[in-house]
Amino acid sequence: MIEDFDVTSDWHVAAPYPFLRRLRAASPVFKSEHLGAYVLTRHADVRAAYADPRSFSSKGSLTISRSLTRETREKLGEHGSFLSSFVANVDPPDHTRLRRSVSRAFTPRAVAALEQRFRRLNEDLLDRVAPRGHADFVSDLGHEPSIKLTARFIGVPEADEAFVQSHVKDWFQLFLSPQPPERQLELAGSFLDYLDYVDRLVDARAKDPRDDFTSLMTALIGAELTHREVVELISTILLGGNDTVPNQLGNTVLRLLREGVWPVPDALLANASEECMRVDGASLGSFRYAARELTLHGVTIPAGALVLLSTDSAGHDESVFPDPDRFVIDRPNAAEHLVFGYGIHFCVGAALARLQLRPALAVLGPRLPGLRLVPGQDIAYRRSIVGRGLSRLAVEW
Ligand code: HEM
Repeated sequence: MIEDFDVTSDWHVAAPYPFLRRLRAASPVFKSEHLGAYVLTRHADVRAAYADPRSFSSKGSLTISRSLTRETREKLGEHGSFLSSFVANVDPPDHTRLRRSVSRAFTPRAVAALEQRFRRLNEDLLDRVAPRGHADFVSDLGHEPSIKLTARFIGVPEADEAFVQSHVKDWFQLFLSPQPPERQLELAGSFLDYLDYVDRLVDARAKDPRDDFTSLMTALIGAELTHREVVELISTILLGGNDTVPNQLGNTVLRLLREGVWPVPDALLANASEECMRVDGASLGSFRYAARELTLHGVTIPAGALVLLSTDSAGHDESVFPDPDRFVIDRPNAAEHLVFGYGIHFCVGAALARLQLRPALAVLGPRLPGLRLVPGQDIAYRRSIVGRGLSRLAVEW
């Protein structure tokens, strides 16, 4: 049997490294029948593809899932391709315009102003959870501060946070992991409710602007952005903020506890957090379409073919990171990972993500210095094509 990725198996997310190493060595452009995509696995190739949007197009690349049934597609209607004008899903010149608008909200000053709030959110949560002596890191500790921070940033009222959170989860499941047909229909219903909610939020801010991202973007409708673009931006940024950062934090804490590096000394926080992103990135890669026929390492990728840029593999490329499967807390080039992508689509929220990961560790370490994994547990990941996140993580202190 030919080896391939397998999204329905645990190893696909949990431990793909021996497989990826074989691909980098022997088959750096791998045609995956299972993913329906060509997979680039070497760091240099992944970075070069990100840097060449004319050959590797983002247009429609997020408009998954390829595994939706006809009934689900019918239910979603025009929203089946809902993300079609999201900034990560378009090429220049649309991308240039959208990115300019989004970047207005992510100025270094605006991002830095959120750090104190984020620390406070972590402290408040620990006041409640610390006396218990044990927790599921994923549901009890990892998500709440990021969800609350993102909600404040976007302008979601506190009372609606739980609603948004549960719908964002459904969205992820629907589009990014394979689901049985009945479940797809349920998730599609939830997704449509979520879009309605964001639509109403945009209307509310148009009438009564506040000091938040939604108001800032809504004010650009008609001038730089369309209504649909704004709704897509807001709904997907909520997704980015609510899920990717907590996933990365969970992966990070698991790695640090397994390596026996807890609490992380202040001087090493920044590098430790980059090294954790390199070895256990919350993003596994990005999809692109070949804009024309491309030949790489002797393999011809036909025009229009789907291509996965495997940042997970790039982060373990031995030609860039010696002894790549080993966690090295002070690895000098840890930050050369590609977990935030590269080039024109480089994650616009990267500064905001880093601003959460480091302070979360800085607060958690001193508050829970005896944090450890509950022995004997199975470490389980959510099954996903593009993301790595734990389903649960039992910890005690
Ligand atoms: C550890 C957390 C995060 C990871 C691993 C991550 C990963 C990524 C990656 C790989 C891309 C590039 C996609 C591509 O090239 O196709 C990206 C783009 C993007 N990210 Fe993030 N992200 C994170 C956090 C965030 C946060 C907190 C936000 C916003 C609050 C955010 C908003 C975005 C947006 C809007 C884009 C599209 C940028 C563009 O296309 O120009 N991300 N992210």
